[in-house]
Amino acid sequence: MRTQVAILGAGPAGLVLAHLLHLRGIDSVVLERQTREHVERRIRAGVLEHGTVALLREVGLADRLLRERMVHHGLELLFDGTGHRIDLTGLAGREITIYGQHELVKDLIAARLATGRPLLFSAPAVGFSNLDGATPVVHFVHEGRERELRADLVAGCDGFHGVSREACPAETFSRDYPYAWLGVLADAPPSSEELIYAYHDRGFALHSMRTPKITRLYLQVPPDEDLAAWPDERIWAELRTRLGRDDPGWQLAGGPILERGITALRSVVTEPMRYGRLFLAGDAAHIVPATGAKGLNLAVADVAVLATALAQWYSDGREDLLDAYSATCLTRVWRVQHFSWWMTQLLHRDPRGGADEHAFGQRLQRSQLEYVTTSTAAARTLAENYVGLPMDWIR
Ligand code: APR
Ligand code: PHB
Repeated sequence: MRTQVAILGAGPAGLVLAHLLHLRGIDSVVLERQTREHVERRIRAGVLEHGTVALLREVGLADRLLRERMVHHGLELLFDGTGHRIDLTGLAGREITIYGQHELVKDLIAARLATGRPLLFSAPAVGFSNLDGATPVVHFVHEGRERELRADLVAGCDGFHGVSREACPAETFSRDYPYAWLGVLADAPPSSEELIYAYHDRGFALHSMRTPKITRLYLQVPPDEDLAAWPDERIWAELRTRLGRDDPGWQLAGGPILERGITALRSVVTEPMRYGRLFLAGDAAHIVPATGAKGLNLAVADVAVLATALAQWYSDGREDLLDAYSATCLTRVWRVQHFSWWMTQLLHRDPRGGADEHAFGQRLQRSQLEYVTTSTAAARTLAENYVGLPMDWIR
């Protein structure tokens, strides 16, 4: 096979890139390791920044999203039994969108198939050759046969466990957090209009949602926690404790748990995000802890930069934007890493250290929570980063 851009991975990064290139008349082939069904059913996060929605709307990928989304103009920080609203729109002039990542991926796959351009499922890439030459080759397996895809460039959008990151000699910066998230999807109506980020002595909790009927909830648990140790009643009891407040009228609505899982929290950045004709984007290049709800949005921001650079290269042969790709993306990546780390260390109970260490840490967290919920300047910083800095925000 021969194409202009070989795209590895049919996640948000790969599929949005494929569409941006399609609109500019640039050929591509998307190779996805999993089946369509698997990719469309994979439950992930669900918060879209203002800029992400604006880009998806601009390129015609937001029809169902705009119809079915929930729009939030604020969020709540809950501690010591009292909720404090952060007025995102009032402070940062923009709002966030709640729309499940797997719903977006369904829309992106439908849009790709509607273009008639190639999207191969169950087609894992297994390696590369000639990445530092003019015609890199992707080796992949499809229908039991080893095959080759020749291209001008390769976009490694195959996530953290893909083959692209390994093929890219790079420096890795990482931080692991001493806790994880137990996440559930519940057939229960959301118990509040907006997201609730709860700081509690027993650990962090998050009340999020997908639709007016489906709630998404998370609990901080130890990194090696066994899901079997959390029967439904224990999950609901712990959520009620950590999301509890001094307002007797507020109740956390329960319901059947449809899906559950434990997710590690870590920060990882790969520098540079390029090796020869291989360009990394999304989770293939960086992982953020979920606390800031940034993973998907950062993936879309990367491919927006890559698509513009590729279009310029194909239209007038200029390489400057391609050469600047990694540095341009990394500015935003580190801004988002800092915000996600800050939200994570602010809201989680750190199990490390002795009693004194722990007590000192708790008082620092409380002081930060009191500051961000009383100072307009501090709340604006949170709001500005949470709704997302403009797509063209660079140094
Ligand atoms: N060959 C082809 N496809 C592959 C390979 C491979 N060797 N390895 C992995 N893939 C596929 C995965 O099956 C997945 O569908 O690459 C895709 C990567 O998609 P994501 O993991 O969703 O990553 P990305 O598109 O960068 O989106 C980042 O996804 O994981 C969330 O929290 C994350 O929200 C963030 C977003
Ligand atoms: C989610 O809805 O899954 C979600 C929301 C906010 C986060 C993380 C995940 O910070």
